[in-house]
This record gives sequence, C-alpha cells and structure tokens, in this order.
Amino acid sequence: MPLVTTKEMFEKSMKEGFAIGAFNVNNMELIQGIVDAAAENNSPVILQASSSAIKYARINYLMKMVQAAVEEYPNLPIAIHLDHGPDFETCKMCVDAGFTSVMFDGSKYDFEENVRLTKEVVDYAHSHGVVVEAELGKLAGIEDDVNVASSDAMYTDPEQAEEFVKRTGVDSLAIAIGTSHGAYKFKGEAKLRFDILKQVKDRIPNTPIVLHGASTVIPELVEMCNQYGGNIPGAKGVPDEILHEASISGVSKINVDTDLRLALTGGIRKVFVEDPSAFDPRKYLTPARELVKQTVSHKMRDVFGSANKA
Ligand code: G3H
Ligand code: 13P
Ligand code: ZN
Repeated sequence: MPLVTTKEMFEKSMKEGFAIGAFNVNNMELIQGIVDAAAENNSPVILQASSSAIKYARINYLMKMVQAAVEEYPNLPIAIHLDHGPDFETCKMCVDAGFTSVMFDGSKYDFEENVRLTKEVVDYAHSHGVVVEAELGKLAGIEDDVNVASSDAMYTDPEQAEEFVKRTGVDSLAIAIGTSHGAYKFKGEAKLRFDILKQVKDRIPNTPIVLHGASTVIPELVEMCNQYGGNIPGAKGVPDEILHEASISGVSKINVDTDLRLALTGGIRKVFVEDPSAFDPRKYLTPARELVKQTVSHKMRDVFGSANKA
C-alpha cells in the first residue's frame, strides 16, 4: 500500500483501545530501526519530522527514505507527519511534498488566533487529502524553538477543546495533561491528569487524542548513556504503566523522540568506549540502529498495544 493518512489507523485505535506510536526521525538509521520494529510487530506506524529535523535531513532525502520504507514493507500502514508545524508555509511545504499528515502547533497563540490559523491549515490540507493535528493547551518544557516556562504550563480546557474541534474541523487534537518534552519531565512523582483526558473524550469522543512529550526516558538507556561517558543526571519520563493506561483510555497517538535519541546515543557511546579504535560509522551505527528497533518494538508490543493491529 502507498503512504497512508492517520484516518484509518486512528479509527481502529479508538474502536479497539490502543495507541499508535509516532516516532521522530531525521536520519536513515532512525527510519530503518522504527519500520523494522513495526514490521516485526505487524504494527501501524507514524514517522514524524519537526521543522528543524526537516531542515537537517532535507525534505527530499526524508521523503525518499520514507518511500523506500513503504516499498520495503508494502503491507504496513505507514504515515508521514509534520511534527509541530510552526506556520502555514511549513505545513503547505509538507503537504506539497507528499506528507500525509501535518500538525499546526498554534498553542503559543491565544484561542481565537489558534482557531483562525489552524483553520487555514485545515482548509489547505483537506483540499489535498491530508489530515491535520492541532494543539490546545501548553506543555511544560521546550517545544521546538518555543520555550514554555513550567509555571506557564496550562492544561487543556475540555470545553474549549470541543469548541476548537467544531470550529477548525481538525482531524486530531494534542492535549496538555501533564506531559512535557525532553528528558526532564517530572521532579517528583510522575502523574498525568486522566480526569482531564476523560472530560475531553466525553465531549469529543470521535476525535483522536494525541499525547506529546510522552517518552518514558527509559532508565536503562539513560544509564547506558551515562555509563559510557554521558552526563544526563536526574532524567525522568512518563512510566510505561501510565502510557499503557493512556493507550487504553482514549489516547490514539503517542509521540516519542527523546527515547530514540537516548537509544541512538547510548548505542554509539558504548561502541566508542569499548573500542576506541572504531571509526567506521557502520560499526557504531549498526548496534545503535538495533537499539532503536528494540526500543520501538517494546513500545508497540508491551506499552501502546499496537502490535498485530496493522
Ligand atoms: O516535540 C519536539 C520534538 O522532540 C522535535 O524536536 O525540534 O529538536 O526536532 P526538534
Ligand atoms: P518526547 O520529548 O517526550 O520524546 O516527546 C516528543 C514529542 O512530543 C514530539 O512531538
Ligand atoms: Zn511534541
């Protein structure tokens, strides 16, 4: 099958109570590790790239590598999504380049402006057969180039979510219920506002819900980075049990970037420390790619429940 939008996979996720992983990519090893895991688990998968990832990898290279994955695994539902699109132009560029899904992130704007700008993107994307994700509420931490102070973190208002979806016609909605981007999500106990998720689902039961900032910050991977010369102290993410709970409670898309960065970095660091004479990229990227695959596989199989849902 060709690249797909997220429409059918989200419908299935809402009907059957599981979530689909959306994994950030910016190079070949990440793409291969992720789709190899999806194939092994017979899982639908969303590959996503932020605007800075697109700048890094270059949109043509990215699309050609994604196309290669589709050709390699013709029976797998694979979507390619723009993560945190900052403006109409970036969303349009991705629609025109063949992305099947785009996010317009208007969470830094006030409600009315977010509605207006999201609607513009929805109109353009829908006229090209592309689906749109938007965001309401603010996550704590770093969102691409936008720095949201922790004290500013604002949970999504369920009533506003209903109005937002009605007025924009958006296909899926990212909500703020306590997650945040990066490796430092919680100082104390990890906790998400499942009460807000439930209120949102009650009001917009047919709109797929997205969780950003949802890496586990897998302790073994952090340890691996630190053991082999890294310095990432006190990193803490959303535990697997909480993500599993979210997956069976109406969250359809779970975004993962930090865990992949840790996997790739840990794998590379280990080779460099164990064999300081190594300088062939294939020698240190092969185990790193394998670690990405194992990380994604674990999420699909043991946490999100998307295995065998392709
Ligand atoms: O949510 C943001 C993603 O982790 C992308 O980060 O802009 O550094 O690619 P990036
Ligand atoms: P993490 O930083 O928790 O991996 O979140 C990634 C994300 O939300 C990408 O949009
Ligand atoms: Zn995000």
